[in-house]
This record gives sequence, C-alpha cells and structure tokens, in this order.
Amino acid sequence: MDENNTFQIHLQKLAHQDEKTFETIYTLGNGHFGVRASNPLQGNNSHYPGQPGLFVNGFYDLTQLSYGENYSGYAQNSQTICEVPDPRFIIFEVDGVRSDETPYNVRLVDKNLDMRTGVLMDIFDVKTPTNKQFRLTLQSFASHADKHLFVIRYSVSALNFTGPITIIKQHPYIKQQIQSNTTDMRAAQRQTVLDRTFIQSKLPIMMISTRKSQLALIVAQQALSDNPMHVTMLDDLPSYSKTFDLTQGMTQSFSFAYAISYPHPLLKATLSQPAIAASAEKRLANKSFKQLLDDSAAKVNQFWKNSDIELTGDDALAKGIRFNLFHLYQAAGGDGMTSIPAKGLTGPGYEGHFFWDAEMFMLPFFTYTEPQMARQLLLYRYHTLPQAQHRAREMGVHNGVMFPWRTINGEESSSYYPAGTAQVHINADIAYAIDTYVRVTGDTDFLMDYGYEIIVKTARFWLAYGHWATDDAHAGKFVINDVTGPDEYTAMVSNNYFTNRMAQNNLSIAVKYFNQIKHSHPEKLVELNVTDEEIAQFNHAADEMYLPYDEKLKIKKQDDLSTSKPVWPIKETPRNLFPLLLHFHPMTIYHYQVNKQADTVMTDCLFPKDQDEAQLKRDFDYYEAITVHDSSLSRAIFGILAHRLHHADDAYDYFMQTVMMDLSNSQGNTGDGIHAANMGSTWLSLIYGFAGLGLEKESFNLSPELPAAWNSLRFRFWFHGRQIEITITQPAVSIKLLSGQPLQFYFKHKPFKLTKDHLVNQYLK
Ligand code: BGC
Repeated sequence: MDENNTFQIHLQKLAHQDEKTFETIYTLGNGHFGVRASNPLQGNNSHYPGQPGLFVNGFYDLTQLSYGENYSGYAQNSQTICEVPDPRFIIFEVDGVRSDETPYNVRLVDKNLDMRTGVLMDIFDVKTPTNKQFRLTLQSFASHADKHLFVIRYSVSALNFTGPITIIKQHPYIKQQIQSNTTDMRAAQRQTVLDRTFIQSKLPIMMISTRKSQLALIVAQQALSDNPMHVTMLDDLPSYSKTFDLTQGMTQSFSFAYAISYPHPLLKATLSQPAIAASAEKRLANKSFKQLLDDSAAKVNQFWKNSDIELTGDDALAKGIRFNLFHLYQAAGGDGMTSIPAKGLTGPGYEGHFFWDAEMFMLPFFTYTEPQMARQLLLYRYHTLPQAQHRAREMGVHNGVMFPWRTINGEESSSYYPAGTAQVHINADIAYAIDTYVRVTGDTDFLMDYGYEIIVKTARFWLAYGHWATDDAHAGKFVINDVTGPDEYTAMVSNNYFTNRMAQNNLSIAVKYFNQIKHSHPEKLVELNVTDEEIAQFNHAADEMYLPYDEKLKIKKQDDLSTSKPVWPIKETPRNLFPLLLHFHPMTIYHYQVNKQADTVMTDCLFPKDQDEAQLKRDFDYYEAITVHDSSLSRAIFGILAHRLHHADDAYDYFMQTVMMDLSNSQGNTGDGIHAANMGSTWLSLIYGFAGLGLEKESFNLSPELPAAWNSLRFRFWFHGRQIEITITQPAVSIKLLSGQPLQFYFKHKPFKLTKDHLVNQYLK
C-alpha cells in the first residue's frame, strides 16, 4: 500500500464535481469551526456559484417559523447556524485594478488535503484584467492544538510579468449569502442577518453579533511573524495591505492567523473591548506559520494513532475510510456545550442542527477511540436537560424529559412535527449511547455525575408518554402510541418497533444502574428522587413492552398497522422521482409500505441477541425489499446485517456505497455539507460489521470476517482504560494489549485471557 497516498485527498483523483461539492469535501475544521474551501478571490462575489463561509459550532440565530395554522406547542423558532464571512478571502490589486471590484479570471489548478497533518493546499492560476498572470497557492489548516485558530498562507508567483502587486487582507463585508434552494427541505432554508462592529486594537478585530439569539463572536486577524505587517485603515476597515515587487519565477508568501472565539451570550458579555483586544493580541503574538502548524499536526498525528483504520488491499477504499474518519474528527468540538451537526461544520444543510445522528451513528467511533471526546459530546445533552424538561411539560408529558428532534440550543427546532418532534425515540437513543459509553469506558464518574440523571429522566418520559393497554389486541401490555420511528416515510403510528424496543432498553438500563448504585451511591438516588416503587414500574413496563410481530409473515412489524398497507411500487417508480420526499406529498408516501431508511432492522443491529439467524434473515429480506435508502443513514445498517447473515457481496456493496458517499457525491447534495452520520457508519460497518466487535459479558467479543479483496484491517480502541490493537489478516487475527490490565475477552464467543505483551493469534476459520 502506498501509505502516503491513502492520506491524501487529491483533486485529480476525484470525479469532477461542482464548486459547492468541492468546497464541502475540502472543508477544514476542528469541531469549533469549519471553513469551506472557497475560491478566495471570488467567494465574496454574488455571482460566485459556490457557497463560501465559516461555520462556528453553536453560533446560530433564531429565525421565526411561520405556519398557516399555528397550533399550540409547535416550535416557534428555528435555530439556524450562521454563515460567518470567509477567512480565506483576499483582495489583490494589480495595475490599479482590484480583484473585488473587477473580477479577475481565476482557474482552479489543484487541491490536496493532507490528512496526516490536516493541511489543505489549493493552487489557482489567476489572470488580471490587464493580462498579468500569477499562480496563487494557499496552505491552510484549522488548528487542532488551539481550537480558536485558522491559519492560512498565501504564496504568489508571477507567471508572465515582473512588477508590483498589492495584497489586501481585511474582514470581508457580510455579503455572502446562503443560497437557499426552497425545493429541497434538507438544504439551508433560512438566512441570518449578522451585524458587525470593529474593536480598537493593533489587529483587525471584528465582533459579529446575531439579532435574535443575542450571541456574539470575536474574529481577530494577525499577520504572522513570518511576514509582520502593520494594520492600516482602508475602505474604512482595519486592514493589512502590502505592495511588493514580483519577479517572474519568484514566489512571495504571507501568512495570517484568525482567532475565532467561542460564541458568547451578548447580554452577558461583560468583557470590555480593551480586554478582548488584549487577549487576541496575546494569543496571536509572535507566532509563525511553521510553529502553529507543528503544534496542530502533532495533535492530528495523535488522533491517527488512536483512531486510524488501516486497510490494505484496496487503496481507494483505504483513503475513503480515512477521509470519513478525518471529517468526523474535524466535526467534533468537545467543549461540552455543542454536539456534531448532521453536516458537521461543512455547510448550512439542515441548518446546522444536531439530531440522533450524533448519538447513534457518530458517537460509537469516539466512545471506542477518543472516549474523552465522547464524554464531552454526551455532556452537551446533559447541559440541555432543562430545555428538555420544559419541552416535556409543554407537550403535556407530566414527568421526565423530552429531547428535541433537531436543535442547536436544546430547544425543539423542527417545523414539520410528524417527521420531527414525533421522533421521540431520540430520548432512548441518547440513553443507549450513554450506556454504551459507560460499558466501554467504565467511566462511573460520568454515570454518577451526569449519565444516570439522563437515563432516569428519559425513562420517566416513557412511563408518562406510553400507557397500559386495555384493548383486546394489546391487553396487559405497555404501548406507545402516536410516534414516528426512524423511517420518515411512515409517521404518527402506534407501537413503532424501534421506538418500543429502544424505550424498553431505556427503562431496563435505568433499572440495571439502579441496582448497581443503590449500595455504592444511595445519595444519588435520593437526589434524583428515584424510589423502589418507581424502579418497579420501570421494570414492569420494560417486561411488558409491546413489540409488534406479524405472525403470518413471521417478521417484526414496524408498527401496529404497517404490514396491512400496500407496498409502494419501487421498481416501477422512475429513478428521477427519488428521493420520494422531494416529489410526493407526505401522505401519499405514508399510505404505503416504503421505508426511507432502516427502522425495525436497526434493532436487529443494536440488539443482536434479540433474534436468531432465521429471524434476522426474515426481517432483513422483508425490509430490504421495501427500503429505498433515501436517507444516508440507511445503507450501513443493512450492510452490517448483511454481514451477519454472511451475504458477503451485499455487505461489501452496502459498505462501498457508505464509504464513498461524499467523495463521489452519490446523494447529490454533498454541496450542502457532508453526511456526517454516514461517515460514522463507516466506522460502525468496519468495526461492528467486518471485525464483528461487540460488547459481551463486561468485555468484548470479536467475530471477524474480511472480504476476499482485502489483505488486512488494523484498528485500535480503548476498553476500560486499556488500549487494544486488532489486526485481522487473511487468515490470522492478532489481538494485542497495548496498555492496561489483562482481561478476559471473547473470540467468536469463546473466552481467552489477554495479557500485556501477549499476542493472541487466532485463525479465522
Ligand atoms: C433522516 C434522519 C436524520 C436527518 C439528519 C433525515 O433525512 O431521515 O434520520 O436524522 O436526515 O441527518
């Protein structure tokens, strides 16, 4: 394998895509912010076909939702991630003509993202209106050492002239507009209006504020010590400007850092302007490009050490896997106050909202490889418990909490409740993620301080939202009516299998942890007011949870009525009418059996012990035939199950479509941002699927099976403070304890003892 090559995303190796798609693919981020890889000369121009911008995690404004009929409890505001002006933007002046006033001709020559260091290189050939040609090379990175910093170096070399050229670097006007495509509800729908003020300083420092959410962001610029410059006033803006003589064939470089603060609540911002200026000046003083790069690259290197998946035998695939892991890394901030938006920080799609995507599709990657990050992501949910409690009451649920389907600040932001608010399974998804985190890490402090409270309060929701049925069909069972499961092509149903199974798990883990902590931490139970009576109720509801089953078809039923509906004629529907959601009224779709994404079968994936292989096969075959995968969250789940059913070809196909989704823009909307859950699914498919890693009896089990085309798969993970490395080759497997205490583990469900410096070789067959 060409090691180096599989860490590079080289433009020349990608199929041609439009500007927006490349901007997304090459976005640089560090979880605090993301910068789309725009054309740096034209991004500020209203005719530019791309969508440049800087997205800061948690920096949003409120935009009012309008309804023809505004019912009680409808979400009143959407939160919309703000598109902050593009830090890549630069102005040139040659022969008295400025590039922001008279467009220069700019041709993209090349781009390369080096995922080893996190540095993006872009090369453009530029022609001025007076026919002067120069090559512009950008090297930029979002620092992973200091998450406030974006660093960029511009290098200019004259191609056909010798003479003066002026560069102007200033905060661009906020005139970049999100292009909203009103026919696609997944794209950005709303625009925010930002205000800006400048802060007196030796540096150009801009304060950007929102109008309704009352948030402020400070963005400071500094010419780095490689090319010190003084700030001058130009266009009434504090700017860096320098004229230098270019000699044909010679290159001039100049580097800048941007310090982007965390969003501050405006009203509470007690910081004085001099204090803001002093802290920005201090942060950026005497820094060189190389030093900042070395610091950041060291962090990126550490990430790869813990989180890389090394696949040999297929370089293109190995690269695709790394691309997805790298984007996950770029999307997770870990400040405890934010999560990961469905599009990461790469675009305005889905308005920058956090969904169940984070807990169910992305979190496992962090739980196993960067547990500290997983903890911080879960903390975000803890910090929004007050909003979730308020929402439950607003929705008439007298106990527990109700987490929002989509949100940034913890309040519900979905304007279409049947495919939004009604997805109450999010409560149980969060509880499931906490349980996995605690089981994998053994972090009982987290459980005591934060996790158990969420588990108990979400469990309380189920008792209050569901009820004990008395009708003939469900008598004596605990039922949950009027919800929507993960499949958004079926809405407002009774007893959605996924929801009920997840709620059952939520109730059961509340009981499990109660039994564990009643002796060790009785005070916690007092604090949360958890009583034996309540736990008995949880237990009873879990035991008697109604799980719909079709006795004739012998499959798990998606909901009470699902199998009685006609099946959508999938094969007869022309390709151009997919995704169905863009072409048919929701009721038309709801009328049929057609799944947007994995729903019931996801429980087969999450609870493997629930069914034997014959049941799994029936569920899989039935649901595969009615699933159209219009959601990017679908294929990987089917792929994992195909793997468990030993359908090697299907598993491989699903996996390939998962891994290459954004690099090949196969959903057609990568331009609005990456599909971050699908990227998390890449890890799930490899680790839960091909490697067959799963929790077993307070330890883990490995049941690997590699596709014939791969030579080997290597990855690392943490388990209760130990780091373990697995290498699966054809046909041997080695399991290595890199650090920590010996443990019993299971290989194909048979126990073995793993000790330090001990390599266990097990034959695959
Ligand atoms: C999917 C949801 C997902 C959302 C954000 C929708 O298309 O149906 O399951 O949470 O996208 O990714």
